[in-house]
Amino acid sequence: MLVFILPFIVIAVIAKLLLPKKKPSIKGKHIVIFGGSSGIGKALAILAAKEGAHVTILARNIDKLTEAKNEIKNYCIDEEQLIAKVSVDVTNYEAVENNLGEVEAIVGPIYMLVNCAGMAICGEIENFTQQQIKTLVDVNLIGSIYSVKAIVPKFKKRREGIIILTASQVALMGMYGYSVYSSCKFALRGFAESVYQEVKPYNISVTLALPPDTDTPGFEIENQTKPKETKLLSETGGLLQPEEVAKKMLDDALSGKFFSYVGFESFILTTLCVGMSPFQSVFDVIIQSCLLGMLRIVGAFYSMYFNGIIKKCFKEKESKKDKQT
Ligand SMILES: NC(=O)c1ccc[n+]([C@@H]2O[C@H](COP(=O)([O-])OP(=O)(O)OC[C@H]3O[C@@H](n4cnc5c(N)ncnc54)[C@H](OP(=O)(O)O)[C@@H]3O)[C@@H](O)[C@H]2O)c1
Repeated sequence: MLVFILPFIVIAVIAKLLLPKKKPSIKGKHIVIFGGSSGIGKALAILAAKEGAHVTILARNIDKLTEAKNEIKNYCIDEEQLIAKVSVDVTNYEAVENNLGEVEAIVGPIYMLVNCAGMAICGEIENFTQQQIKTLVDVNLIGSIYSVKAIVPKFKKRREGIIILTASQVALMGMYGYSVYSSCKFALRGFAESVYQEVKPYNISVTLALPPDTDTPGFEIENQTKPKETKLLSETGGLLQPEEVAKKMLDDALSGKFFSYVGFESFILTTLCVGMSPFQSVFDVIIQSCLLGMLRIVGAFYSMYFNGIIKKCFKEKESKKDKQT
């Protein structure tokens, strides 16, 4: 098997190395980031400022926005650079549309729209309140759809634009405790793949980011609701810094990649779940075709390992119950 696929991998690697693609510069371009006042979104805003872009950050809390704006300003490389902030709830379509129009008038035409506004609440499904379910769907799914719906007509008119949506590793695999959050992020993948086809002829790209656990204020809050099982399962993937995730997101989006992921485990998961998703190069298709069968076996081992953790926790809970009765 390996003898058969090795030549294809070697050819693909050589082709990739010989044909490096030049990334477009974002100097002087306007980048708009929903959720830019904290975590991954703020890290991306700082990166964009360091590369000379004009940046607008949008979120709800005005104090956090002001603090983040002042921090981002410190990283500007040019006196002409504009850093703007807007307080808006991404789940309110009219407000999103109006505010995008206003920031375009003040800062300039938007070149890239990033949606990092999102949150997770964990728990077993029977313990969720209806309000928690609605909040998760609103911010993680509807908010992303609204921001894209509002920006696409502007991008189509100019025949240029980049969209980054932030999903998660649990957009590709379900996980104990993430039922509601994961379903929003799975849905986001379907949304991103469909919009990708709609906007591609207009020279607009869509990138779907799949961050693993990342050390952000949002992640700290999420941890407060995590069942033991979820903690144990997600710990296997380690913890990344927001700067690393944001850099990969920006680089991948500028290179026109559909999926943006960081690290070897994420590569395995993304390759395993590639399905009918858009591809950027023949190189990627060759690598994926060669690895898919083998990775299904690796994935099965992960599933067995995860099921083992869940079973152990279940037994612990049952024996606790027995002792109490
Ligand atoms: N951190 C992780 O481990 C991780 C892993 C995978 C995926 N993700 C995803 O990555 C994205 C960013 O996560 P993060 O960890 O960086 O979160 P974070 O630190 O909590 O930042 C979230 C940002 O979104 C804004 N926001 C939340 N609800 C909003 C709303 N309704 N309207 C407008 N803005 C809103 C927040 O500001 P306000 O509260 O002031 O509005 C904040 O600026 C999320 O989509 C998350 O699901 C995170």
